Amino acid sequence: MDNVLYLNSTGSTNNDAYNLAVKGAVHGFGVLSDTQSAGKGRLGKNWVSPAGTGLYCSIVIRPNLSFTEFPKLTLTAGLALCTAVQSFLPDINFGLKWPNDLYCLRHKCGGILVESSTPNCPDEESFVVVGIGINVNTQLDEFPLELQQKVTSLHILSGEIYNIKDLYQKIRASLLEHVYIHENRGFEKILHEWRKRDVLFEKEMQWVTHDKEVITARGMGPDENGHLLAIDSDGKIHEILSGDVQQATNGEQ
Ligand code: BTN
Repeated sequence: MDNVLYLNSTGSTNNDAYNLAVKGAVHGFGVLSDTQSAGKGRLGKNWVSPAGTGLYCSIVIRPNLSFTEFPKLTLTAGLALCTAVQSFLPDINFGLKWPNDLYCLRHKCGGILVESSTPNCPDEESFVVVGIGINVNTQLDEFPLELQQKVTSLHILSGEIYNIKDLYQKIRASLLEHVYIHENRGFEKILHEWRKRDVLFEKEMQWVTHDKEVITARGMGPDENGHLLAIDSDGKIHEILSGDVQQATNGEQ
């Protein structure tokens, strides 16, 4: 494989890719590991990374974009992931839960952690690390009991066993293609495609504010800044910049 560091095990591929990017790793350089002992999820969570069943990779991106565009790349990366997995499993419908979780049938099968170089980094040295975790060949009983109602894997969805390196190559190619589209045709083009895959669009959803208030509102999709919009029963529009949103439970699963 070109431009990839393949590891049997590591702490976190995001940390590895970040350190290599600081030392000059090129656009598209990736780190792929069989397992991680300290996999990182969004919002400070852990990403449990058992050997042999999941895809754990991090890809260095050096976008030809201003630093203010970088936060939008999180949606670009989600669309790239969803498009790649969709073409790998064409008979199954995948969606995106803001900002960039990969979903199928209301179950999470993958997630992305994007980390950027520091804002004071000179433009020509700036980079983004796109870390991707996917449940690929995992069986349901291999997930912790408390997660089994919420997650799925490509294997559970299709019954097939997948080659993780092939899937990695597909995702890398899709990521580079979508970053190119973002750079050359603008974020609007990404947003247009993203909205078609939005699993929360027009769904009742809930989130907890910084003041610990639980808000319920109907999803309106991300805006041109990549922030999520939602309208509550009083007609007030909320703009969600970060954090975690959940589809409100209504008995169906
Ligand atoms: C999420 O919380 O949904 C994001 C999970 C991202 C996990 C991946 S696994 C490969 C890469 N290395 C990490 O430490 N995290 C990301």
